[in-house]
Amino acid sequence: YPIFAQQNYNNPREANGRIVCANCHLAQKPIEIEVPQAVLPNTVFEAVAKIPYDKQIKQVLGNGKKGDLNVGAVLILPENFQLAPPERIPEEIKAKMGKLYFSSYNAEKPNILVVGPVPGKKYKELVFPILSPDPTKNKSVSYLKYPIYFGGNRGRGQIYPDGSKSNNTIYTASSAGKITSIEPIEKKGGFLISIQTANGDIITDTVPPGPELIVKTGNEVKLDQALTSNPNVGGFGQGETEIVLQNPTRIIGLLVFFILVLFAQVFFVLKKKQYEKVQLSEMNF
Ligand code: HEM
Repeated sequence: YPIFAQQNYNNPREANGRIVCANCHLAQKPIEIEVPQAVLPNTVFEAVAKIPYDKQIKQVLGNGKKGDLNVGAVLILPENFQLAPPERIPEEIKAKMGKLYFSSYNAEKPNILVVGPVPGKKYKELVFPILSPDPTKNKSVSYLKYPIYFGGNRGRGQIYPDGSKSNNTIYTASSAGKITSIEPIEKKGGFLISIQTANGDIITDTVPPGPELIVKTGNEVKLDQALTSNPNVGGFGQGETEIVLQNPTRIIGLLVFFILVLFAQVFFVLKKKQYEKVQLSEMNF
């Protein structure tokens, strides 16, 4: 959950560019992020993210039963960009957002937004309403091209913040040896797998309900050999894009320049036509 990242990491983007969700959501799956090429200052615009997956598939839930996947995301905007205040969001964007609730990553980082978990079936697109900063009001903002980073996840993670495994991951043998017994755990579900090591000790590995066993009693297993299949059908993906904070006077300047060029060209042509007329009149046959 994004809250796990908020509680455990002050900055969701590590120095090497990796977004921290990947520390617990171990599988990699694609995502898409789209923003306008350029925005004007103090303007509300939308960033649209997609976290695609096959809506037919089910994942293992905490109790070992199967259920639908949820999605969640983190959007790392340039500094001074922030979530648009509700009263400034146009109806059109509001309609696309649905009932999504965005929050900032923490008090110091209003430019980082998190959302989710929300049902992936309902939210095929996550639409973030964003307000661009105004360099005329805030002197620390410049008209530049800025990077935007996005991380999106579908499905449950493999590791809890305390380091323990969730039941949505692969379970492995904690020592080499022969499997002497596999006992189902009553009520809760799952299995107790006893492995006899070379020196005769019996070591018991617990597999929670969810992952499917791929070993049988009597099998020889190596250290860290998989005892179960990997039930994880979800995954995390990250990407980046760029946005230009555009100065409106630069656009006006460019248009004025274009108009000047247009007139200059027209006058050159007219001048040429006039000169041709003079040449004609001076011709002697
Ligand atoms: C569950 C997103 C960071 C561990 C989820 C779910 C989402 C999500 C959407 C629900 C999946 C479902 O129900 O289908 C994210 C995002 C993160 C993030 C966007 C980064 C901003 C983390 C971190 C950890 C973690 C850092 C580990 C410390 C888990 C676990 C679950 C989970 C263990 C399953 C919980 C359960 O069902 O018991 N996450 N997550 N996540 N996440 Fe994350």
